Amino acid sequence: MLVRMKIRRINGDERLTHAFPLQAYAFEASPAPLEDAAKYRGYLPFQEDSVTLVAEEDGTSLAAVSAVPMRQNVRGTLHPMAGVASVAVHPLARRRGHVRTLLTRLLGDMRDGGHAVSALYPFRPSFYERFGYVGLPKRRRVTFAPRDLASLVRADLPGEVTWERIGTGYDAYRAFTLRLAERRHGFAVFPDSRAERLRADDAHWVLTARVDGEVAAAATYRITGFGAEMEVDDLLTTTPLSRTLLLQFFARHVDQVEKVTARVAADELPELWATDLEVVTESRTRIPNMNAPMARVLAVAPLAGTAVGPGRVVVEVVDDPFIAGTYLLDGHGGRLEVGGDASGVPRATLRAAGLSALVYGVLDPDELPLRGFGAVPADAGAELRTLFPRAVPYVFADF
Ligand SMILES: CC(C)(COP(=O)(O)OP(=O)(O)OC[C@H]1O[C@@H](n2cnc3c(N)ncnc32)[C@H](O)[C@@H]1OP(=O)(O)O)[C@@H](O)C(=O)NCCC(=O)NCCS
Repeated sequence: MLVRMKIRRINGDERLTHAFPLQAYAFEASPAPLEDAAKYRGYLPFQEDSVTLVAEEDGTSLAAVSAVPMRQNVRGTLHPMAGVASVAVHPLARRRGHVRTLLTRLLGDMRDGGHAVSALYPFRPSFYERFGYVGLPKRRRVTFAPRDLASLVRADLPGEVTWERIGTGYDAYRAFTLRLAERRHGFAVFPDSRAERLRADDAHWVLTARVDGEVAAAATYRITGFGAEMEVDDLLTTTPLSRTLLLQFFARHVDQVEKVTARVAADELPELWATDLEVVTESRTRIPNMNAPMARVLAVAPLAGTAVGPGRVVVEVVDDPFIAGTYLLDGHGGRLEVGGDASGVPRATLRAAGLSALVYGVLDPDELPLRGFGAVPADAGAELRTLFPRAVPYVFADF
């Protein structure tokens, strides 16, 4: 069979014909009414910075992959991050290697463009593990009743809360998320063009708590009905006071909604927020549409300068098109130095997912051999453990 397969980058209106139909078929209820096609045109401005590659055969698009140029905090440093999304293949062209080819090209292009890390929400984690990604913790969803916070209703707290539609409150909310990205490990943010969609859709309320005039907490949410639910997206707080200001606002809905649900970081302990507060804090993963995020390192050199612990180890990364090689990782002085090979230093052999797990702080070195992520002798494990202490990334962005 003669196959005329071509990979190319598409932009603008070509997304309507070459990418959106594949994505719509892969991710939405279908067949959709034909007039729905118009809604896709409305998405175009929000995708203008995304890099989309398609595999074409005789002019027909058979597979598409995209990367959103995002930024992500990794142990205190904000890095350009490739947010992989919208991976879809024509139903008659699956399992023919299209995504392997496209994704390898896409990640290489993004790495060459300065993206040191990449993250995504997988449909099946094992699929992306083959591409060097490792699982990160999933946000928890906390559920509680406003009546349990009744004691807060009349509390006199030194701060103020603003309540408005996201259409008007967007700028302050966006600025706050960008500030969090500077501080919180794992926090990932969209480029302006993509983030704008939140404002344009104007489908959320936004709640902002200010302390001494500065935004210290914020959350977007929706109310599903009278006597129903207040669905909070991410409960973004920086201090106990700012969190309590948001909880006080929720408490004022005691005669309006039965329960509040909110997403929180995996290391949050809502049962300690108030006395007599009944909470359910849960995290469920399910294939294909409720998975935890994954991330990987795309380039090692840009990680120099990362805040790390003491440790000195040689890591040989194998079996990866982007970061295969030998690196001396040295954490003396609290900042990572990345060098070439060295002798007389403990050595580990890692796959890309193994190094990524350590950099993101999600696995102990002893777990890596058990997961097939590398060979880590005890002396190298001890160095890696202090160099990359456990940490809990909070990805935030959904893509
Ligand atoms: C899932 C999907 C994106 C894979 O694309 P594809 O072009 O068929 O994948 P490839 O043929 O390039 O396979 C790449 C590798 O993953 C393996 N693989 C393919 N599908 C897999 C799956 N569902 N689970 C685990 N591994 C899988 C292949 O064996 C291949 O391994 P190899 O390269 O080491 O030999 C595609 O089949 C699809 O669109 N499915 C329906 C929509 C969907 O689920 N999209 C979710 C994307 S987030």
